[in-house]
Amino acid sequence: MKAIVLTSFSGPESFELRDVPKPVPGTGQVLVRVHATSINPLDYQVRRGDYPDLVPLPGITGHDVSGVVEAVGPGVTAFSPGDEVWYTPQIFDGPGSYAEYHVAAESIVGKKPPSLSHLEAASLTLVGGTAWEALAVRAALRVGESILIHGGAGGVGHVAIQLAKAMGARVFTTVREENFEFARSLGADVVIDYEKEDYVDAIMRETGGSGVDVVFDTIGGNALTRSPDALAQLGRVVTIVDVAQPQNLIQAWGKNASYHFVFTRQNRGKLDELSALIERGQLRPHVGAVYSLADIPLAHARLETPNNGLRGKIAIAVEPSTH
Ligand SMILES: NC(=O)c1ccc[n+]([C@@H]2O[C@H](COP(=O)([O-])OP(=O)(O)OC[C@H]3O[C@@H](n4cnc5c(N)ncnc54)[C@H](OP(=O)(O)O)[C@@H]3O)[C@@H](O)[C@H]2O)c1
Repeated sequence: MKAIVLTSFSGPESFELRDVPKPVPGTGQVLVRVHATSINPLDYQVRRGDYPDLVPLPGITGHDVSGVVEAVGPGVTAFSPGDEVWYTPQIFDGPGSYAEYHVAAESIVGKKPPSLSHLEAASLTLVGGTAWEALAVRAALRVGESILIHGGAGGVGHVAIQLAKAMGARVFTTVREENFEFARSLGADVVIDYEKEDYVDAIMRETGGSGVDVVFDTIGGNALTRSPDALAQLGRVVTIVDVAQPQNLIQAWGKNASYHFVFTRQNRGKLDELSALIERGQLRPHVGAVYSLADIPLAHARLETPNNGLRGKIAIAVEPSTH
């Protein structure tokens, strides 16, 4: 099968399109013909060498699969050949999704929502699972609460806006001005141009000084340190960005704030929850660009360029060859 193989921890040129052996499903595993995958910041973080001890080289990275079950290993009960499925491969545990075929434990695989194309489905598994974990599981967002979602035009942010609306929250989000309409179309109530206005000032103005119940940090930098300034009493902060520098959280005491640190976990349950929202018309991933498997290096270069003009996700169309 064809796969995009990472040969060294460096720039996008360190990927090679190679023929590699097709994997074989073991006990409790399914073999999936990959129709689409997508690109996440984690992919270029892996590629440039942020996690050298966790990724053996040469190796296959990639963290989203939408495809069709081709074969099942012994003991598999939930899936049969021909089923359309979607999932995020187990992160840092085996080959990723930049390939024509992938093998996964059936416990992390879900039935693909029928109303999504493979490109759409592959654009949602990692970011959707992460946003669900952050908002529903960790922040436990409640009907009538308010939330600030940073980076509302990005992969995670554009899904988080839709989830927060589905949960009945008032949504504030930071985006560039050119993305105001996009963010509103997803359900954002208040859009803040992060290039032109300080978001704490905007939150305080829009909430009459009371702040928001939840801050969802998808941007890193000093967001954790500043979050208490935008929070209401007993507010919660959820971050998905592992900033390596120490963060000063002293202001959190004044707000009785709690912090949650999320590294996305894989399971079928989360995918099924997302699927239910999709089928009710409350959630839809936005595919901002599509590249081929061979052009993954170009897709990486684009995603890691600041102000890249992207909305939502970059999806990768994987056309299986005959071998
Ligand atoms: N812990 C986990 O499990 C987990 C899971 C998924 C993602 N992540 C992390 O979460 C982060 C976001 O992921 P993603 O997939 O959403 O990335 P993405 O698709 O690249 O989106 C990032 C968004 O942030 C915006 N942005 C950049 N600087 C900003 C600022 N100062 N204020 C407001 N928005 C800003 C960008 O907008 P512009 O176009 O305006 O630059 C872009 O829309 C990455 O660091 C990723 O590694 C962690």
